[in-house]
Amino acid sequence: MLQPAYPMKTARLILRPFTKADLNALHSFQSRPDVTRYLYWEPRTRAETAAVLEDKIARSTLTEPGEYLAIAVELIDTGELIGDLTLWWTSREHASGEIGVVFHPRHHGKGYAAEAAGELFRLGFEDLGLHRIYGRCDSRNVASASLMEGLGMRREAHLRENELVKGEWTDELVYAMLSSEWKRR
Ligand SMILES: CC(C)(COP(=O)(O)OP(=O)(O)OC[C@H]1O[C@@H](n2cnc3c(N)ncnc32)[C@H](O)[C@@H]1OP(=O)(O)O)[C@@H](O)C(=O)NCCC(=O)NCCS
Repeated sequence: MLQPAYPMKTARLILRPFTKADLNALHSFQSRPDVTRYLYWEPRTRAETAAVLEDKIARSTLTEPGEYLAIAVELIDTGELIGDLTLWWTSREHASGEIGVVFHPRHHGKGYAAEAAGELFRLGFEDLGLHRIYGRCDSRNVASASLMEGLGMRREAHLRENELVKGEWTDELVYAMLSSEWKRR
């Protein structure tokens, strides 16, 4: 069970649940081909973003494995929604979870994703009691791989053409961190 103490603050960001008012801002990046290039989904129509947003609004807490936590990331300075975070609780038995991070390209390369993802680790390891948190990306997704390396995750695997994504066989990288590694940082 995980009930984050919203709103959570980092130096430059507020992490909070999604609300209906987030539709325009969420759609401004979920609709972009450069954002979805290495993701499993295609750029979304407004109706598709609205449906995803409805689901995210209902995912502000975690009660059972198999569920995911959806967190909106807002810039303190402007109040603008700039990204979204996901923490999947993949297994109770193995105490494992997976992270996902998507930011608006206007706000890439400023360390916001790393700053926000640090909070996801805190929630997963300290509040949910996870043993291992992993992240996966397309091997061509340099920004995602750099982000995970910068967060101190270990590259555990480079899987060759293990998935057929957007019509092509795609290599996948697997990164992970253990709670013991998190504590040592
Ligand atoms: C993945 C993503 C969240 C990274 O965001 P970001 O804004 O680059 O992240 P940060 O600014 O916090 O930077 C993290 C690190 O990656 C580096 N980096 C960012 N873009 C890079 C690029 N194109 N090439 C090389 N390094 C890059 C940053 O310099 C930083 O490195 P550092 O820690 O050594 O300083 C962002 O690119 C994104 O939203 N992409 C689209 C969605 C996506 O693919 N998400 C990942 C799903 S697996």
